[in-house]
Amino acid sequence: MQLLSRRSTLGLLAFGGATAVIGGYRWSRKDFYGPSRPLAIPQLVEGSVQEGIRNFDLKLGKHASQFVDGMDTPTFGINGPYLGPTLKFRAGSNIRLNVHNTIGQPSTLHWHGMHLPAKADGGPHQVIENGASWHPEFEVRQQASTFWYHSHMMPRTGFQVYHGLAGMIIVEDENAAGLDLPQDYGVDDVPLVLQDRRFDSGGAFEYATSMQDRMMGMKGDTLLVNGTINAHFVARTNTLRLRILNGSNSRFYTLAFSDKRQFHQIASDGGLLERPHMINSITLGPAERAELVVDVSNGRTVKLQSTTPSQGGMMGGGMMNMMMGGGEDFDVLEIRPDEGRKPSISLPKKLVSLATPDPQKAIRTRTFTLGMGMMMGGRAMTINGQSMNKSRINETVAIGTEEIWIIDNPTMMPHPFHIHDVQFRILDRNGNQPDPGERGNKDTVVVNSNERVRLLLGFSDYADPDAPYMYHCHNLEHEDAGMMGQFTVTE
Ligand code: C2O
Ligand code: CU
Ligand code: CU
Repeated sequence: MQLLSRRSTLGLLAFGGATAVIGGYRWSRKDFYGPSRPLAIPQLVEGSVQEGIRNFDLKLGKHASQFVDGMDTPTFGINGPYLGPTLKFRAGSNIRLNVHNTIGQPSTLHWHGMHLPAKADGGPHQVIENGASWHPEFEVRQQASTFWYHSHMMPRTGFQVYHGLAGMIIVEDENAAGLDLPQDYGVDDVPLVLQDRRFDSGGAFEYATSMQDRMMGMKGDTLLVNGTINAHFVARTNTLRLRILNGSNSRFYTLAFSDKRQFHQIASDGGLLERPHMINSITLGPAERAELVVDVSNGRTVKLQSTTPSQGGMMGGGMMNMMMGGGEDFDVLEIRPDEGRKPSISLPKKLVSLATPDPQKAIRTRTFTLGMGMMMGGRAMTINGQSMNKSRINETVAIGTEEIWIIDNPTMMPHPFHIHDVQFRILDRNGNQPDPGERGNKDTVVVNSNERVRLLLGFSDYADPDAPYMYHCHNLEHEDAGMMGQFTVTE
């Protein structure tokens, strides 16, 4: 219990709970949100080709958004008031992103999930000053996947993402395009960016106003899906593919349908699973993605709902669960099947072939132990006892090799651990095989309290001794407080 004093524990008790008054609005006061709204679908952009390179123009701006009628919320957005367009990249194509920053403060844009040169990565070293532009270029060398992009402006990532600097990336390839899967964007292939937010009484986002926000991570009392509160979607097909991104700063979601129906998971962070995996709920930590396929042929309205998973730890399930947002359930999306829907698709049995991860190939093992110290001094979130320092390269790996990374979490809460540049495979959790939904490519892995997760990573293509990649906790408040490190890939 080195984390909390008795006094702050009592403060947290007063703060949590399902009917607490937060920012002037009651958790339970659904009428505040007004009637259900159609789900916003971010614009899909495919770029324009100039000299064989696909160019995407992205302008980071400062705006006011109307999440609730008659209420202005100051936000950041990319080519629009809040969030950014969905970028569609084709495997094998050359991409240039023209990023122009006008938000009034320095920022960055990172391509989460992408395998690319470190200089193009958009991490804390590729700062774009206000008024300046940045033009990274790279080739898309990955399979069909749902990735995303977001600010990585240390130590303001949490603040900037919370205010809207994020968007989805869809990588498409020939294999996936040839499969019988829903792929009509916004019609039967639906992006869902999940974010929880808190509003103050003036309508502004409330960010990191309490010790709990900074220590456990920022949690909101209102769910936004693609920026829509209380959203519904009209289904014009019997089979829907939902591309879900947990774009929240720190909240975990356990997603299930209101009638407990089964559905298939077809993809994880880094693309398709070998075969569809049937489930009736799925948990996503911050930054994780999953593609789900659900059948609505019975014609009945159904809700996708979220409960927060129970995450007990040293402090005992109840207390910990409450601080992690337990008991705070959300309706994520109401799905309303329309008349005259397109018939159901029967899913392919085989989606993709993935190499069997072989730990024998690893040339070395590194261990990363996560730490949460006292918060009084500020940056007390650590990996291997050290907080992030931009001028220190923590690890150097050799190009063309594979390694095992052990992520060790002795703290009392789960951490979503993310590694740049690579898609890795999970070997085991405390020695146990991962669930089928976690046996594909991943770039973010939830490491539960008192868990050691072994990952197999391969480093290829891009070596640069001067430009590091990041690895970090994707609880953005933890990341901003120092739970991050750097590695370079060298020849
Ligand atoms: Cu999603 Cu280092 O980032
Ligand atoms: Cu990343
Ligand atoms: Cu963390």
